[in-house]
Amino acid sequence: MIRVLSVFGTRPEAIKMAPVVHALRARPDLFESQICVSAQHRAMLDQVLGVFGLHADHDLDLMTPGQSPVQIVSRVLDRLPPLLREVGPSVLLVQGDTMTSFAAAFAAFLGRVPVGHVEAGLRTGDRWQPFPEEMNRVLTTRIADIHFAPTTKSRDQLLAEGIAPSDVVLTGNTVIDALLQTVRPSYQFTSPGLAALDASRRLVLVTTHRRESFGAPLRSTCAAIRELAGRFPDLQFVLPVHPNPEVKGTVQSLLCDVPGMLLIEPVDYVEFVQLMNRATIILTDSGGVQEEAPSLGKPVLVLREVTERPEGVDAGTAVVVGTNQARIVEVASELLSSRAAYERMANAVSPYGDGHASERIVAALSERFA
Ligand code: UD1
Ligand code: UDP
Repeated sequence: MIRVLSVFGTRPEAIKMAPVVHALRARPDLFESQICVSAQHRAMLDQVLGVFGLHADHDLDLMTPGQSPVQIVSRVLDRLPPLLREVGPSVLLVQGDTMTSFAAAFAAFLGRVPVGHVEAGLRTGDRWQPFPEEMNRVLTTRIADIHFAPTTKSRDQLLAEGIAPSDVVLTGNTVIDALLQTVRPSYQFTSPGLAALDASRRLVLVTTHRRESFGAPLRSTCAAIRELAGRFPDLQFVLPVHPNPEVKGTVQSLLCDVPGMLLIEPVDYVEFVQLMNRATIILTDSGGVQEEAPSLGKPVLVLREVTERPEGVDAGTAVVVGTNQARIVEVASELLSSRAAYERMANAVSPYGDGHASERIVAALSERFA
């Protein structure tokens, strides 16, 4: 039996690991699967576990309000090693680029436990953007024994960094597995604010939470949204506000009185997928949303200076607009005014996967660790 310990802590890691855990559990003849959550995110993580019917076997329960990245790393390094000794995994899986991912991979290395990295090989090439995720990716690559690359670009990046071809598996992104398992053809919102949306008005969905955008860049993004609301009074905006106090404070103070604006708590994945589906365009600095939106045929304006997901830009589904007010307003206005410009982006093809990434990961694990 291959004992797989999946360690994750934030909302996006949980969404992207849920299909992998389900695929492992579909093969009880080969795998014993256990989940350890760091609970770097408490509420948003539990929301995802609920949606995907998952239960944590182990919970490091480390979140504190306004935590620093250093605190997360130090708590994972303190609390995970005894569990590794108790569980004795054949392999530990981490996903992506959070503090939990890097710290869990490092703890596994120190405990001589092999590491599998899901969503490996993404890079902006700038260690400060996104901060600190770009460095977490680079460090996790150095530690991992097997690398699950979501796209050919990420695979080639790993090979260019000297990772042996036999240690890299091209899988697609598991977020597309999660998305396709979740999206419903017809759906009624359950949360009261969303149920009251006017179906005849166009909707702009916004999310923002990156640390490098705190302060002036986030204020500039908010100013752009206010300007767009003024220019296009028919628009409705929905912004599920990330609970990070830095984000919450700025967004609420700058946007609470914008006409047509609905500022809400983070919604569960089923509701959020439907929101994306309902949106005309999406403004986001999220990694996961950049990957999901093209599968739903939604143009994405990326609220960052640089992206580690250039595939969407190359495919024509995403534009990197940064956080400059004039640039955001210019690109969004064109999409909202020109049918041709809109159709070009909405009809581009999704480059992130076919919904079978988890099966490929499980097949590679069984080949490697049986
Ligand atoms: C983290 C990840 C980032 C990822 C993002 C997804 C790092 C360095 N950053 O950033 O890569 O894109 O998650 O959302 O690992 N909070 C709550 N409840 C929750 C979750 C968060 O109250 O359920 C608040 C807490 O005050 C917490 C703060 O948000 O201290 C920040 O959370 P943290 O995980 O440290 O950073 P994120 O900005 O969420
Ligand atoms: N998401 C969600 N509810 C929300 C906002 C986002 O379920 O209110 C989902 C979204 O579909 C995507 C993931 O959360 O799969 C992205 O998380 P986030 O933007 O926090 O992190 P990132 O992907 O940037 O690391």
